Amino acid sequence: MNTELYSAYLYLNMSAAANSLGFKGAANWFNIQYQEEMIHFQKFYDYINSQGEQAVIGQMAAPASKFKSLMQLFEETLKHELFITKCINELTELAMVEKDHATRVYLQWFITEQIEEEENDRDIIGKLKLIGDNGYGLLMLDNELGTRVFTLPANPAV
Ligand code: FEO
Repeated sequence: MNTELYSAYLYLNMSAAANSLGFKGAANWFNIQYQEEMIHFQKFYDYINSQGEQAVIGQMAAPASKFKSLMQLFEETLKHELFITKCINELTELAMVEKDHATRVYLQWFITEQIEEEENDRDIIGKLKLIGDNGYGLLMLDNELGTRVFTLPANPAV
């Protein structure tokens, strides 16, 4: 739960960093990523409370805020999402060991979500590699990132 909240704050910092670099479209993309992470956080929070436990938000480190390029922003995003996938997998394995089938089933949503998260980042990094230092290409990609809109995930409360 804390890690999802940390993810939200990281992407909010990245949104501001993208804006500082002049990429308004990427700033929009990261802001929407922030909103998605808040949904992920809320899902864990609600689930813990629904299981007769009390969700407690703990201390967390300040997320990174200095990024020098669009490529660095998305490489760090992919790196972070691979870490999140590892965390979700470890939670799932723990649920299996503890025969906590309700939690194992609940975590399935996150496993599927991570496939999409990683794929999105790899697609953008692939485009950035093709573009290189071409200003027009960067502008086109930034315009594309600016079209991203927030949509509530399917069955957000499940
Ligand atoms: Fe909540 Fe980006 O994984």
